[in-house]
Amino acid sequence: MSEEVALENLSYEDRAFAPSPEFVAQANATPALFEAAEKDRLQFWADQAAELHWDQKWNQVLDWQIPFAKWFIGGKLNAAYNCLDRHVNEGRGDRVAFYFEGEPGDTKVYTYKDMLREVSKAANALTELGIKSGDRVAIYLPMIPEAAIAMLACARIGAAHSVVFGGFSADSLSARINDATAKLVITSDGGFRRGAPFALKPAVDEAVKTTPSVENVLVVKRTGQESTMGAKDIWWHELIEKQSDQHTAEFFDSEHVLFILYTSGTTAKPKGIFHTTGGYLTQAAFTHKMVFDLKPAKDVYWCTADIGWITGHSYVVYGPMANGATQVMYEGTPDTPTKSRIFEIIEKYKVSILYTAPTLIRTWMKWGAEFPNSCDLTSLRLLGSVGEPINPEAWMWYREVIGGNRCPIVDTWWQTETGAILISPLPGITATKPGSAMGTLPGIVGKVIDDEEREVGNGGAGYLVLTQPWPSMLRGIWGEPERYAETYWSRFAEKYFAGDGAKLDKDGAIWLLGRVDDVMNVSGHRISTTEVESALVSHPAVAESAVVGAKDEMTGQAIVAFVILRGGVEHHEGEALVKELRDHVAKEIGPIAKPRQIVVVNELPKTRSGKIMRRLLRDVAENRAVGDSTTLADPNVMKLIQSGLSAGKSED
Ligand code: WT7
Repeated sequence: MSEEVALENLSYEDRAFAPSPEFVAQANATPALFEAAEKDRLQFWADQAAELHWDQKWNQVLDWQIPFAKWFIGGKLNAAYNCLDRHVNEGRGDRVAFYFEGEPGDTKVYTYKDMLREVSKAANALTELGIKSGDRVAIYLPMIPEAAIAMLACARIGAAHSVVFGGFSADSLSARINDATAKLVITSDGGFRRGAPFALKPAVDEAVKTTPSVENVLVVKRTGQESTMGAKDIWWHELIEKQSDQHTAEFFDSEHVLFILYTSGTTAKPKGIFHTTGGYLTQAAFTHKMVFDLKPAKDVYWCTADIGWITGHSYVVYGPMANGATQVMYEGTPDTPTKSRIFEIIEKYKVSILYTAPTLIRTWMKWGAEFPNSCDLTSLRLLGSVGEPINPEAWMWYREVIGGNRCPIVDTWWQTETGAILISPLPGITATKPGSAMGTLPGIVGKVIDDEEREVGNGGAGYLVLTQPWPSMLRGIWGEPERYAETYWSRFAEKYFAGDGAKLDKDGAIWLLGRVDDVMNVSGHRISTTEVESALVSHPAVAESAVVGAKDEMTGQAIVAFVILRGGVEHHEGEALVKELRDHVAKEIGPIAKPRQIVVVNELPKTRSGKIMRRLLRDVAENRAVGDSTTLADPNVMKLIQSGLSAGKSED
């Protein structure tokens, strides 16, 4: 028996891609950043904070009463001023902030001057409705410019926004409004998705029946569909139209609450993660500039995340806008009207930086290379990934097919709670390995430890923890300080535990291994789902996979894999392919990881942000009734998978 280990380290990767000399020569990030952070971490962060506009400078960088941090104490700033006024005042007002592309093909361009005007009017409108500094405003909108405008208008007057993703139900919306006691809801009649209008307003009508704190509902007209307007309801355009386009921003304390964002929470009550102003904006702007190598006057940057997720907050609104970036914003789905839509938009706006999620990359792999190949993608110069571990094969496909082998890839690890990217390669410095997020950014102190809190060392695997506070860390869970301490700071002494497993390879590069709740225990070996999934995806027939541990009499748990085949691959009845895949896993990472069973499916159960819900697959694999699936993006998926299970049995 081997010594008890937190997690096995099974796979091995020796490909590495060093940045080109041309990229290095022009890169924003230089090794001096690491040296500065190493020498004096707090001074390093103070230097980054000084890149923003402060009405009043801080007098203390950090106050750390574990687990409660305050950053840039005594400083005063306004997040919206930093994202708008500063650019206009310094002569960048005519630069494009957003190229908006609606799903039906309608477009609109907003310069920074336009955004300042719209946000000023919206700030005046909110003030007219009685919204004041310290209040909460719920935002429930599709991916349209008004979403960014509404967020910045809240920030401008010091009201905390709570953006609720438009795909959530009336019940979820109502629970979030009540938890934050929001006074106002900003929504729209609807939006466009998959070629048709969908409604949002009816869900708000339903939700506000049970939300006594809501005084008004502001409704953006997007689709023009029929909406019932009740006593509290006001059309956005009617209220905005009569506002002055001048608004003087007030400056708020660095620790003033900027926003609340609820993490979906598959079982427990959603957590209202809240962030404050100075530290959050500092780190969102810094990481955006360095990780994406942003050249604000030249680049066209596109982050495909919805505003309803933290990625939309930090890398559509606050980071990029504080940096004066030009962005693309797209309302709809990637396959409407065709599977080339994303690539057509890249070609049309000459997008140079693309930031997206592995789930979309694997979907593209499944569809096949003919779609990206039909468009000119040569404007791209840097690619980013976030949200889940990216399998080495998907990484290589991203590099070759989307990036034409010339773009550095940044696999960025972070969380709603961390506010900004903490682990990522820096383009121009790091030689990247396919599938690895590589290392902590300057100013971040992370470790991989075992159950006894010992560092695992190179070649080992365990729990990813952060041992020092960082400026954009969550300040708490709204209204639940004890739950905050309990959830993040209690498992290991004086360490933030992110809930993720990770390993260090022989060179010390960090590989994320998924949530530790998903770890499988096969004959006493703790195996991460990520490594087995990546082994499956490295087979040319497989586009995507999800594996779970199912109860097994012999081995405690056994590995059950669900796979989606690549475009053009046929699944012949019979066991040939399944056997081949099982042998492939054994060959790639070892016989211990060989799945007991492999089921070929057409879809996997995912949350609305694209994360695989392994809990539901575990129910299927253990022949149980499928548990709560209300957070599924597509509720029909589970039925399809269950029917596929009986056809795909394979045991020996
Ligand atoms: C969880 C946080 C952060 C924005 C989007 C998700 C997983 C995120 C990576 C990555 C491996 C990743 C982790 C993390 N995750 N990025 N690059 N490699 N895993 O935010 O919804 O708060 O989810 O997403 O498991 O804990 P979130």
